[in-house]
Amino acid sequence: MVGTVIAGWDGWRASLYRLAVLPSHRRQGIAKALLAAAEDRFVTLGGRRGDAMVLEDNERAHHTWTAAGYEREDRWRRWTKPLTAS
Ligand SMILES: CC(C)(COP(=O)(O)OP(=O)(O)OC[C@H]1O[C@@H](n2cnc3c(N)ncnc32)[C@H](O)[C@@H]1OP(=O)(O)O)[C@@H](O)C(=O)NCCC(=O)NCCS
Repeated sequence: MVGTVIAGWDGWRASLYRLAVLPSHRRQGIAKALLAAAEDRFVTLGGRRGDAMVLEDNERAHHTWTAAGYEREDRWRRWTKPLTAS
């Protein structure tokens, strides 16, 4: 295995997680192909917009998501709550 993405469709959001490609196999279009495959599946299931959380300082990821047609939205913040003590 040289690359992964988790594509989760919950009936409302088409969420993409854990996009990663083995360092030795980067810049060969694998992430782009993984995203295209995920998007095809979302569309088949009724999804209309892909959605990903991307760290602000992950510049390489920004290039990758931009190249695949994604745009950063300014109006969202992530809200979280720890559910266990540790
Ligand atoms: C981000 C990551 C998944 C990209 O995987 P990849 O297979 O190398 O990406 P691709 O080859 O499909 O790149 C597609 C396009 O994205 C852009 N891109 C990808 N990596 C880039 C880099 N290091 N610098 C500039 N642009 C980049 C380019 O436009 C590229 O097209 P090109 O090679 O024809 O110029 C990979 O670098 C990685 O696993 N990084 C660590 C994990 C991570 O940060 N994942 C993202 C979490 S949100």
